Amino acid sequence: MSVNTSFTEPWSGYLANAEWPSTPRLVLLALINIPLLSIVLNVLYQMLPRSSSRPPVVFHWIPFFGSAAAYGKDPIEFFTKCREKYGNVFTFILLGRRITVTLGPQGNDFVLGGKHTVLAAEDVYAPLTNPIFGKDVVYDCPNESLMEQKRFVKVSLTVDKFRSYIGMIDDEVSEFLDHDPSFRIYQMNDINEWGSFFVLNTLSEITILTAARTLQGSEIRNNMNKGFAQLYSDLDHGFTPLHWMFQNLPLASYRKRDAAHAKMSEFYQQILRDRRASQSGHEEDDVMSSLMKQHYRDGRPLRDHEIAHILIALLMAGQHTSSSSISWAMLHIADRPDIQEALYEEQVKFFGTPDGGLRDVVYEEIRQLPVLDAAIRETLRMHPPIHSIMRKARSDIPVPPTLGAPSEDNVYVVPKGDIVLASPIISQVDPQTWQDARTWEPTRWYDADGVAAQANKQYEEGVKVDFGFGLVSKGTVSPYLPFGAGRHRCIGEQFAYVQVSMIIIALIRKLEFRLEEEFPQPDFSVDEFEIYVYLAIATMSSSLPAVFVLVIILGLM
Ligand code: HEM
Repeated sequence: MSVNTSFTEPWSGYLANAEWPSTPRLVLLALINIPLLSIVLNVLYQMLPRSSSRPPVVFHWIPFFGSAAAYGKDPIEFFTKCREKYGNVFTFILLGRRITVTLGPQGNDFVLGGKHTVLAAEDVYAPLTNPIFGKDVVYDCPNESLMEQKRFVKVSLTVDKFRSYIGMIDDEVSEFLDHDPSFRIYQMNDINEWGSFFVLNTLSEITILTAARTLQGSEIRNNMNKGFAQLYSDLDHGFTPLHWMFQNLPLASYRKRDAAHAKMSEFYQQILRDRRASQSGHEEDDVMSSLMKQHYRDGRPLRDHEIAHILIALLMAGQHTSSSSISWAMLHIADRPDIQEALYEEQVKFFGTPDGGLRDVVYEEIRQLPVLDAAIRETLRMHPPIHSIMRKARSDIPVPPTLGAPSEDNVYVVPKGDIVLASPIISQVDPQTWQDARTWEPTRWYDADGVAAQANKQYEEGVKVDFGFGLVSKGTVSPYLPFGAGRHRCIGEQFAYVQVSMIIIALIRKLEFRLEEEFPQPDFSVDEFEIYVYLAIATMSSSLPAVFVLVIILGLM
């Protein structure tokens, strides 16, 4: 008893003398400390022992928000740093989702060559793309149907079509240079003065005009200036991480996205009805006319809304990819007068006429222009437009030990529900593979036995499989994969190549370029408003465990 007394007396004395805050103050204090407590709990949670077969988790302070800031700011730097610390396989938290990254050629092969039954693209991309592309196409249908839809489109991307597109693209660029206000000095034919233009805006416009004229058809091209561009822009603003996380929020961008989709879908379907009524559908030489003639394997023709939605998907899939590639190529060309000169000399060598002019390009000749070919390949090596390719694990998947393993007799297992992510750009700029990896150096592609040529050979000549839309590389271990691999490999590659080549040729023939400012760095940053939304959600959701702990503490008192 005496022992008890000697212990309790000093404590009870302290409690009696302490100044305790009133209840409202206590609640306020607790509220202020919730974020702090949630951070502490999150850090403690990360220190708990975990199964050694789980890939290491990238350390992060804020629960739910995870590594969103570092990944969103510069994914390449983020992946590179994580690779140095954790190896080729690691998991990071992105806005409440677990993303397991597998890097390097083996990592690309793991994700891109994975079986569809266990690694599904639609489970990741659908919330973002379905409201934009629309019903029953791409990721809003079984994967087998997507494979058929890719076959339908490929049928319309033939060499014959490409031959006719060459002249159309050339015409569009010439028309643009002749009329756009940014090229006033060119229009005045003043060869002694420099004009200037915003590279990305201008080349985005040229990209959409050339895609509309070739793939999308004359009705779309003719309506480009009459509201179609606004619809495109409203749809495009629905392509953000926020729209990926939440399919529907009561925000203007969501309302505009949905209204634009409805209008665009109806616009295409009206063209289909008009073409049928006037019997002109079969005379046009575009993707729509080709889709009107196709059938699924069970004999069913495509329904109008499916044709409309495939065309919307193609418009969106081809726009940023091509326009960013052309923009980076032109920036580098402007920055390297030697390559610019070589590109022009190449035009003179191949297409020069006795009277000092340049004749029209023929489709088959495009791939035989080594300088142009190297400039495009090098641009796609350093600036592939898609830095993260994702799939969702539908079951637990063991990671091949060659990619990384916790120990000799154990392997990592990606748990069911994780998103797996490959980032081919990491192997495309890996200094272990490429000399001066971060330098744009087209000449590296000239050497037929060099690293670049070998990488390209691996890309094009590996094991081929037909997933339903023609033979493609199965999922490849090449360090160069700008158009992806496996069943989701790009079907726009040849078209993009024609488009990018012809736009560069048309510009190089008519103008000389130099940079007005410093060479720009890639800007991956997300809209500021979105960051606030993520932080608010992070605070709310991560507060729950902290609130729970606080309630217990307060209850105990
Ligand atoms: C898929 C790159 C242009 C249509 C892909 C993928 C990549 C890619 C990396 C694979 C995505 C994945 O595995 O999740 C590029 C680049 C382009 C380009 C670098 C231009 C320089 C185009 C164009 C079109 C297009 C012009 C349309 C005309 C598609 C389609 C898919 C695809 C339909 C298939 C999606 C799937 O199966 O899930 N592209 N693309 N792309 N791309 Fe492209």
